[in-house]
Amino acid sequence: MLRSIGISLLLAGANCIAPAQAASPNNPLGTGPEAVAAGHVIFNRTCTACHGTDGAEGERAPALVGDRRFFRLSENAIFDTIKNGILGTAMPALGLPDDDIWRIVVFIRAMRASASDVDVPGDAEHGAAVFSGKGGCLKCHMLLGQGGIIGPDLSNIGAQMTLQHLRESLTQARPIPIGYRPVKVVTRSGETVEGIAKNEDGFSIQILDFHDKLHLYDKSELRQIVHGTTSLMPRNYDQALTPGEYQDLAAMLGHQVTVKLHVKDQGEGEVGR
Ligand code: HEC
Ligand code: HEC
Repeated sequence: MLRSIGISLLLAGANCIAPAQAASPNNPLGTGPEAVAAGHVIFNRTCTACHGTDGAEGERAPALVGDRRFFRLSENAIFDTIKNGILGTAMPALGLPDDDIWRIVVFIRAMRASASDVDVPGDAEHGAAVFSGKGGCLKCHMLLGQGGIIGPDLSNIGAQMTLQHLRESLTQARPIPIGYRPVKVVTRSGETVEGIAKNEDGFSIQILDFHDKLHLYDKSELRQIVHGTTSLMPRNYDQALTPGEYQDLAAMLGHQVTVKLHVKDQGEGEVGR
């Protein structure tokens, strides 16, 4: 009995505090492309003395776009940061008009959005045909339980990557992630096995070959180990495909979501760290 009174008093207290915390106004401008473009201009003009251009890491301040875990997530939290600065750090209050701050907020959120959060234009159905046909992606990638395992599973790729990162994956050389380094070995008995090194230490190596078969070798059994320096992932899909096919493939990948990684909206989880 006593306990339940205590709880209801606590709840009543929380209700009283709530209005005072919701100090910042709501975004009056919407999240349309004009606001994003205007925010981009103001950001690159006002913030890049410390942050990098386009949200990258700068000389004196962290990146504002990238791994989501470290960011202030909600619109209001970003707004408050830009309006008031962060006390005790080099992040100043910049004295911008509220509307300009909202434009920057919208820009930052658009840059952070996963591909599935933005509506990638194109014919996703045709993109799926390119994926399994001309693109040859299924040879190496699993999609909803079908395909190869030499590359990462792409079933949830739209929720995992920004659109920009997705396009770069298809068109630009990147460092090879651990577990995907190409390798070729020759055993003492003269057998050659080629694939990617899933695990490797000073004494042993585990190789996934191109027929999706795993091999585990003690390095003393091997006559030769040659590591490849380029990823097996082709990086020329903007050229190997027609512009239409490439666009439709991007639309298909952008829509490819099994588990939505929720982007918090106003008022929710103020700081993401
Ligand atoms: C004088 C340098 C400086 C300028 C100018 C500056 N910042 Fe910052 N900013 C920082 C630093 C340093 C931090 C990291 C503070 C910390 O340690 O938490 C930061 C952090 C932030 C964060 C919080 C990052 C997060 O999500 O946790 C946001 C958002 C931000 N800045 C936005 C802006 C915007 C927008 C502008 C331009 C209107 C701007 N900053 C201008 C130095 C600066
Ligand atoms: C010959 C095998 C092969 C083919 C064909 C291939 N990929 Fe890949 N892909 C890989 C490998 C291996 C990786 C991981 C290594 C890397 O990122 O460099 C990868 C990485 C990726 C990534 C990055 C995934 C992540 O989590 O970082 C994406 C996206 C991708 N591929 C999409 C595609 C699409 C779309 C196609 C078809 C148009 C395709 N790949 C065709 C082997 C292939």
